[in-house]
Amino acid sequence: MEGGRTHELTLADVVGIERVGGTILGTSNRGNPFAYPGNGEDKPNDYSAVCLDSFTRLTLDAMVVIGGDGTLAIADQCHQLGMPIVGVPKTIDNDIVGTNSTFGFDTAVSFATEAVDRLHDTAHAHSRIMVVEVMGRNAGWIALYAGVAGGADVILMPEIPFDAERVATAIRRREDRGARSSIVVVAEGAVGKDGTVSVVDPGGQGRPERLGGLGARVAQELEALTGKEARSVVLGHLQRGGVPTSFDRVLATRFGGKAFELIQRRVFGVMVANRPPNLVAVPLADVVGKTKYVPLDLDLVTTARSLGVSFGD
Ligand code: F6P
Repeated sequence: MEGGRTHELTLADVVGIERVGGTILGTSNRGNPFAYPGNGEDKPNDYSAVCLDSFTRLTLDAMVVIGGDGTLAIADQCHQLGMPIVGVPKTIDNDIVGTNSTFGFDTAVSFATEAVDRLHDTAHAHSRIMVVEVMGRNAGWIALYAGVAGGADVILMPEIPFDAERVATAIRRREDRGARSSIVVVAEGAVGKDGTVSVVDPGGQGRPERLGGLGARVAQELEALTGKEARSVVLGHLQRGGVPTSFDRVLATRFGGKAFELIQRRVFGVMVANRPPNLVAVPLADVVGKTKYVPLDLDLVTTARSLGVSFGD
């Protein structure tokens, strides 16, 4: 959109970036050129023609678009305008269809797992319920992985609507068996049986909906239902920074190599996808507008249940 803000990347610019979080490119989830928030105007503006013009003026060979569902949908729209695009799935949410994994997810899970590990100590010391709210707007991948890895007793996620009373029953049963404390991992987008979601900002005019507050609500409800002290903690954006895990470094490096190969072969309008042991190209059109939810019959869900984890259902 801002054609003048370009910079030629050389090897010197990218040396060492596998070891750092964030981005060297500059990024935004408020920058949809097809629906750019207007200055106090009612309707968002369409700047896609400006982007196409910049792209043509810069005589680029291709554009590699790195991001999650929103970004890849914009990439698909750009491809439909005629831009040669290769998408790369990058989101901590791991909710992109067509690919086994997205980079960022493993790093977020390992951070959230360490947080849950630490919370066990204080939960046990004070005989409390600790509720940990993790990210995951539409899908519960982070909650499930960090919950299982961190030995959580309850995992609440968008795919399995929960009933606070059921969660309280699970906690009471633990108490009956002698457990002094319980850890509840809650995805920010987990849904109550009555369909309620915790929204702090409904969004609109190019701004995405913002979720939050569920962890505190669940802690309050559980305290009232069980009579046990409960505390909540929100991991929030801490999950989106920090040193990437080796898995994410390798995945991102492989994705970059595959994107380069596809550009050389002039295969466009696709997203690089991880289908172990291979990397493949899947059409962007097959990916956008969809969400990779946690399948309810996933072996990890079944195994977690058999280990005594409650999903509040
Ligand atoms: O898409 C990744 C994500 O981390 C979601 O899980 C979360 O709801 C959202 O981003 C938060 O975005 P923001 O940075 O706008 O608060």
